[in-house]
Amino acid sequence: MLKLVVLISGGGSNLHALLRAAEGADYPARVVAIGSDRDADGLAYAEQFDIPSFTVPFTSYPDRESWAEELLDQVRVWKPDLVLLSGFMRLLPPAFVDALSPNLVNTHPAYLPEFPGAHAVRDAIAAGADRSGASIIVVDNGVDSGPILAQERVAVLPGDTEATLHERIKVVERALLVNTVRRIAEGDLTLSPTPPTPERLRS
Ligand code: GRF
Repeated sequence: MLKLVVLISGGGSNLHALLRAAEGADYPARVVAIGSDRDADGLAYAEQFDIPSFTVPFTSYPDRESWAEELLDQVRVWKPDLVLLSGFMRLLPPAFVDALSPNLVNTHPAYLPEFPGAHAVRDAIAAGADRSGASIIVVDNGVDSGPILAQERVAVLPGDTEATLHERIKVVERALLVNTVRRIAEGDLTLSPTPPTPERLRS
């Protein structure tokens, strides 16, 4: 059984999809803890599904490094096989990423490498794209640049706003996440470390 810690900042609909899937006896993964960087709405699912949760408020620490150090300590308490960033809206410093990689996975509401970054849906609309998508990736130290584990296209429809497109992407993203976690747990998908960058090779 694959043990997951899921980190969220928002509504947690991806988390909810995983929690629902994990109610199935044949689903090979379980959420052992839910973490957040703020008082996220999605923490309500922790209560609803009776899963432990922790919050490490970004604003309570003097810098990103000390915040991430505490977050890593909290994550490690649960000895997860995999840590999922699902709508986790904070950049994580290299010390955090390197400590967990490649067992650190992110969901992204675009068909990477198209539209990386925090405003992927808005950027797709602004670019006039006629299709975008959803991706599940291994986190590396770049911005949404890690190895792609799974992705699927979603059409941009005439009249789409950021909200309507994001809602349709999220439907696809949730199914993709549930399926990708299953494939990882069943050994059908192997997480491999990101090759070192030239900078890292030199250091
Ligand atoms: C998802 O689209 C995720 O890719 C993006 O934010 C959204 C989070 O949704 N970074 P939710 O909190 O899981 O509902």
